[in-house]
Amino acid sequence: MYPHFFPPLRQQPNAGLIEDIAKAINGEYSAVTCYQQLAQLAPNEKTRHRILEIRKDEIRHFQMFSRIYMTLTGRQPQPQLTERCPTIYREGLRAAFQDEQETVDFYHEMADRAHHPFIKKQLRRAAFDEQNHAVWFLALDTMT
Ligand SMILES: [Fe+2]
Ligand SMILES: [Fe+2]
Repeated sequence: MYPHFFPPLRQQPNAGLIEDIAKAINGEYSAVTCYQQLAQLAPNEKTRHRILEIRKDEIRHFQMFSRIYMTLTGRQPQPQLTERCPTIYREGLRAAFQDEQETVDFYHEMADRAHHPFIKKQLRRAAFDEQNHAVWFLALDTMT
């Protein structure tokens, strides 16, 4: 998709970047899994649709981080669920809201530290998506 960006990525990633990317992959993987379950708990079709739209962004983030990881390491990532998904709808919304907010900070911090402009840009974009998700989860919590 971005073939001209890949060769320069092989030059010396900054310290800790690969670990942070692996952590981001686990977070995105967990969000994809938990939002599927949260969508099933949603009280109506409109809400379910919104959660599944957010989940699509997380799948996109997961794929983007996985591509970066493979380019930096030459290995496939081994994603793991970082926490158990809440089984009560409202708890799920609140956990999601908190997780999204923490992820905004995490991605902006990673972007600040990243040397490579392509990685920096992807992190900023993902951070803005997560900010948007946080607002949605807060809205869904006050609407239901
Ligand atoms: Fe995400
Ligand atoms: Fe998100």
